Amino acid sequence: MSEPVIRMENVTKDYPMGEVVVHALQGIDLEVALGEFIVLLGPSGSGKTTTLNLMGGLDRPTSGRVIVQGEDIARYRDKELTRYRREKVGFVFQFFNLIPTLTARENVEFALALLDGKSGDLEKQAQELLEMVGLGDRADHFPSQLSGGEQQRVAIARALANHPPLMLCDEPTGNLDVETGRSVLQVMRDLNRREGTTIVLVTHNTAIALMADRVVRLHSGTIKEITVNPEPAPVGTLEW
Ligand SMILES: Nc1ncnc2c1ncn2[C@@H]1O[C@H](COP(=O)(O)OP(=O)(O)OP(=O)(O)O)[C@@H](O)[C@H]1O
Ligand SMILES: [Mg+2]
Repeated sequence: MSEPVIRMENVTKDYPMGEVVVHALQGIDLEVALGEFIVLLGPSGSGKTTTLNLMGGLDRPTSGRVIVQGEDIARYRDKELTRYRREKVGFVFQFFNLIPTLTARENVEFALALLDGKSGDLEKQAQELLEMVGLGDRADHFPSQLSGGEQQRVAIARALANHPPLMLCDEPTGNLDVETGRSVLQVMRDLNRREGTTIVLVTHNTAIALMADRVVRLHSGTIKEITVNPEPAPVGTLEW
């Protein structure tokens, strides 16, 4: 196997809460391979978001290593961590966090404008990103004029602004009905297959896990089981 995109080694995360300490992660060992589609599955409080945040450099572990391309990002200074996030990672969250006063295209354009060294026609680039998620004809709509699934796809287009090799998605369909949820998952699957983007997707929904190449099941801050889906289910067949 080639060098994994991410290797977590014996990672723990404690949250001090006054007198007590919450042991959110208690020794996670996990490798994410290039081009994989992984689902992190587990009940509420099992440590899914914490794991994702550590992979994405949004937070640092209490102990252990998070190796990306041979470097331990847990030891990065803030500035290096910011650069890692900006250059290597796309984030998609449950709540789409679009700017309500900007159109779909402007939301994506805004993300492009924040990147270093971006030049050329940002409006055109934003339009192209919206077309990638099947929303070319909704570019002039404001978030309030879009369905939940469409808003989430705008958020995905925005996350793609930096062409990240790694996408981290935290309950991206948590707010969506089944049909719109499927449209979002299909976009993620297509991205993975077409562009080779490595994807780690968090859900507590066992049905969604069927689409993954590999399923990592968390419980109480530990990995309980890792299963491989030799034939991941097509998104259209998922029912929940
Ligand atoms: N900032 C924090 N401060 C204190 N405790 C926290 C913090 N963030 C998470 N925790 C605790 O760490 C544990 C793991 O939380 P985490 O958010 O990773 O769970 P999760 O699997 O994402 O759950 P959910 O499905 O509800 O989103 C939980 O017990 C939670 O209460
Ligand atoms: Mg969570």
